[in-house]
Amino acid sequence: MEWREESKQTMSWNGTISNREAKEAVAAQLAAKVQDGQVIGFGSGSTSLLAAYAIAKRVKEEGLNITAIPTSQEMQITCNNLGIPTATLLQKRPDWCFDGADEVDPHGWLIKGRGGAMYREKLVMACSPVRYILVDDSKMVKSLGEKFSIPVECQFEAVNYVREQLFALGAEYVDMRLAKSKDGPVITEHGNFILDARFTNVQEDLESKLIQIVGVVETGLFIGFDPIILCS
Ligand code: 5RP
Repeated sequence: MEWREESKQTMSWNGTISNREAKEAVAAQLAAKVQDGQVIGFGSGSTSLLAAYAIAKRVKEEGLNITAIPTSQEMQITCNNLGIPTATLLQKRPDWCFDGADEVDPHGWLIKGRGGAMYREKLVMACSPVRYILVDDSKMVKSLGEKFSIPVECQFEAVNYVREQLFALGAEYVDMRLAKSKDGPVITEHGNFILDARFTNVQEDLESKLIQIVGVVETGLFIGFDPIILCS
C-alpha cells in the first residue's frame, strides 16, 4: 500500500543555497557517472541535494535502476520523495559514494559536518571503495581550519571532559553547537551533542587523537580517504 501524496513528508533546503550555480555544475558532472544497477552512498548538505536531483532526473529519463544509501534522515526523505530506492549498510555495500565538504586541503583531507551528519557520512565513506567530494571553489583551502571549526560529536555526560581534552590538544576555542528552532544544543540523529572546536595548523594525527577521547562518537575531520575532488 502506498502513502497518499499529501501524507508524505517533503524536504526542501532551509534557506538559499549558496553558490548554487557552481554546485549545480558539479552535481551534473557527478550524475553523469551513475550507471545502471549501482549502489551509491548519498551524502548530505545542499551540494548533495542538488546531486540527488540530477541523479533522479537521469533515473527517471533513462529508467535506471539504482539504490541509494543515505547518510542522513534529510537525504533519506529526499530519496523517498524523488523515488530513488534506498537501503542501509546492513543490506548493501556502496559501489561508490559522493558527498559535499566544508573545507578541502591540497592532500584531499576534509572538514565536514556543518549539517551535523558526519557520523553516517564517514561510515558510508569508509564502506565505499570510491569516493567523490563535490565542492565549489570557495571550499578549497591551503590548510584545514582556515574557515571552519572541526565538529566533534560527543555524548551528553562527556561534554566537559571532551572540552577539556580538546583544549589540551590545542583547540583555540570550543563552542557547543546551539539549535536554531529549539532551545539549547543541537541534538544529532544519534542523540548526541556537537562541540565545534577551532584548530589551526591541523596535523595528520589529529583525527586519531580526537577519536581516542572517551565520549567522542565521531568528528568532522576526514583524513586519508583519498577522495576524488570534483570542483567547479
Ligand atoms: C553535512 C556536510 C556537508 O556535506 C557539508 O557541510 C557541505 O555542505 P553544502 O554542500 O551545503 O555546502 O558535511 O554534514
